[in-house]
Amino acid sequence: MKKDALHARRKFLQQLGATGLALGASPFASLALQEKAEERILRYDRKIASTDKLRIGVIGYGVQGHFDLDVALRVPGVELAGICDLYDGRLQRAKELHGKELFTTINYKELLNHSDIDAVLVCTTDCWHAPITIDALAKGKHVYCEKPLVYKRSEGHPVIAAAKKANKVVQVGSQRVSSIGYAKAHELLKAGEIGALNMVNAVYDRQGSIGAWEYTIPDDASALTTHWDKFIEVTQKMAYDAKKFFWWRAFKEVGTGVAGDLFIHLLSGAHVITGSLGPEMIFSTGQISYWKDGRNMPDVMSGVMQYPASAAHPAFQLTLQVNFISGTGGQEIIRFIGSEGVMDVRDNDIFIKHSIMPEAPGFGGYDSLFTFPKAMQDRMQAAYDAKWTAAQRKGRQKDDVIYRAPANYDEHLDHFTGFFDAIRTGKPVVEDAAFGFRAAGPALACNESYFNKQVIHWDPVAMK
Ligand SMILES: NC(=O)c1ccc[n+]([C@@H]2O[C@H](COP(=O)([O-])OP(=O)(O)OC[C@H]3O[C@@H](n4cnc5c(N)ncnc54)[C@H](O)[C@@H]3O)[C@@H](O)[C@H]2O)c1
Repeated sequence: MKKDALHARRKFLQQLGATGLALGASPFASLALQEKAEERILRYDRKIASTDKLRIGVIGYGVQGHFDLDVALRVPGVELAGICDLYDGRLQRAKELHGKELFTTINYKELLNHSDIDAVLVCTTDCWHAPITIDALAKGKHVYCEKPLVYKRSEGHPVIAAAKKANKVVQVGSQRVSSIGYAKAHELLKAGEIGALNMVNAVYDRQGSIGAWEYTIPDDASALTTHWDKFIEVTQKMAYDAKKFFWWRAFKEVGTGVAGDLFIHLLSGAHVITGSLGPEMIFSTGQISYWKDGRNMPDVMSGVMQYPASAAHPAFQLTLQVNFISGTGGQEIIRFIGSEGVMDVRDNDIFIKHSIMPEAPGFGGYDSLFTFPKAMQDRMQAAYDAKWTAAQRKGRQKDDVIYRAPANYDEHLDHFTGFFDAIRTGKPVVEDAAFGFRAAGPALACNESYFNKQVIHWDPVAMK
């Protein structure tokens, strides 16, 4: 096809894709014959339910606290009321960015006492998520809690109960759970686009010191400037250690390692896309391969989980992989493998390829047939040819499809819009406390499996 004709056709298809999301999986079969894959742009219209004023506080103003607050403030009607953090430098930075008058504190309970605060964003180190979330709910605040919802599995049910009792919104912050790409992947899987699901392979690899959690430590870091005594109120007693404060992910005393940092995103994504409540069996193994900086959490880790059949999906197996010294240069992908194809989800985009088994069984080629006497081969060939048509031997063909989110699409903003809409209208959030625990429980079980060299059994319905 000539270049401009191809361009015109692509444009036409993109327009079709933009308005034709509800169409069947591959309506362009005849047009697509000359090309390997069709590309469609996902439709996106964000609706703003209301702009009623909502005032928020941030607890934990580190890297993600900055990102979350910036996105939250882009939702119409949302205002910042105060920031809490334990490291003095970050409170100083809060005033630099949001004005000298901003209320700041090292004690989150002071922030929770402000009656004009409707909701808090909990963006602290993992070990503080559940205690702060429970206290905030008890004070009548809605809570956006960063993933993992809990640091220990035993905290899951108390958080869920606190949310129920307070009747406030809890939204957990995992990557892309509110993405239009994940919603489309869910729709495609449910419609049978790749046949019956049997396996999910999820990978989050990195190559670099920051990717391996060695974030820059401020040059004034000390027990005083980090309010260390307060930091360890929820942990065992520990001597001040700057790494445990600023590289907390790598230490089991305060963080949850690869499992709570990255497996959790992959699991949350897999759960949204499959509609699953979770696995029933969990095993994990790992090693400290390269980042021997004092950490006690693996930098190379894999998990294997068995998901039972449910109303939403057939039984499938899920593998998780994180490698922080990856010669791939880093990669992030959730791959869904079914009986008729494979669906790769990368960021908000979806790549589908098909392979459909022919109805006729294999015969000839790399087979035992050629080892039989010639007369028998001929006789059996004739019988096979009489039984199976050419079409039955070839199998159904289906075109590859690519779905992309629009270039300026921001799923983080959609996640926050969903949170504030839920507060304003009462409609449910996508990632509530139960959803958060259904991802955190199996993720944290990976750490238990790794440390105790055990298979962990989990009830995905009862979350136990
Ligand atoms: N959703 C995502 O994509 C995503 C990305 C990065 C981080 N996160 C999550 O966000 C959270 C923070 O990660 P980060 O990278 O910003 O870490 P960070 O170390 O940069 O920030 C954590 C901040 O919490 C503060 N803090 C700790 N305990 C506190 C307490 N009791 N009261 C007040 N402040 C306290 C620390 O002083 C620090 O400034 C983690 O739970 C992490 O898993 C989520």
